[in-house]
Amino acid sequence: MSKKVFIFDLDGVIVDTAKYHFLAWQKLAQELGIEFTPEHNEELKGVSRVRSLDIILNLGNIQATQEEKDKWLKDKNELYLSYLVDMDQSELLPGVVAVLKFLKANNQLIALGSASKNARPILEKTNIIHYFDAIVDGNDVSNAKPDPEVFLRACQLVGVAPEDSIVFEDSVAGIQAANTAKMKSIGIGEKEILHEAEYIFSDFTMINEQFIKSLMN
Ligand code: BG6
Ligand code: MG
Repeated sequence: MSKKVFIFDLDGVIVDTAKYHFLAWQKLAQELGIEFTPEHNEELKGVSRVRSLDIILNLGNIQATQEEKDKWLKDKNELYLSYLVDMDQSELLPGVVAVLKFLKANNQLIALGSASKNARPILEKTNIIHYFDAIVDGNDVSNAKPDPEVFLRACQLVGVAPEDSIVFEDSVAGIQAANTAKMKSIGIGEKEILHEAEYIFSDFTMINEQFIKSLMN
């Protein structure tokens, strides 16, 4: 039986931070007079900070200088981080820790594959960083999801082939990245949005041990 790696996205999969990204972008959009809805926000999930700003500016048909963009990116990140100051394990999404524990108990490799540059402090604050055999985040890659770079790096780091990698994702871009890399894609969220995933669950409490065991084989 070949070795497997279970690669987790961070925002919206492990922690409930997708809502904070949304709130921070929404405030900026409001200031710029751009309408920014939860539907628009789906396009930003899994997407890098820089690309997210471009998508929002496009929505409002706004041209900006690099200086303005840099300021807005900084403002957005500062507001986002202010939501995380008191972050602790209570922000972990339901069932995540049970799955991490089950994987470790069964000697499986675990990796992080996130677009976020804030990933490490979040894993530390929520006290789960020790579960991860490899961490690849927005500081390590140059191509954002749907490019598979982040997931390919993660499986390389632990010496596992892409075909033996399993990805948990809440974003359309992330599911596409996993599919392009020929990894098993598991959507965490709504069926209507994540229909390109091989399997879809509303959250980790819906994933039973038998299913995870079937992924190990
Ligand atoms: C992804 C989120 O995980 O990380 C995106 O889904 C976010 O919404 C991206 O823009 C970059 O995160 P950060 O923390 O570097 O701004
Ligand atoms: Mg995500």
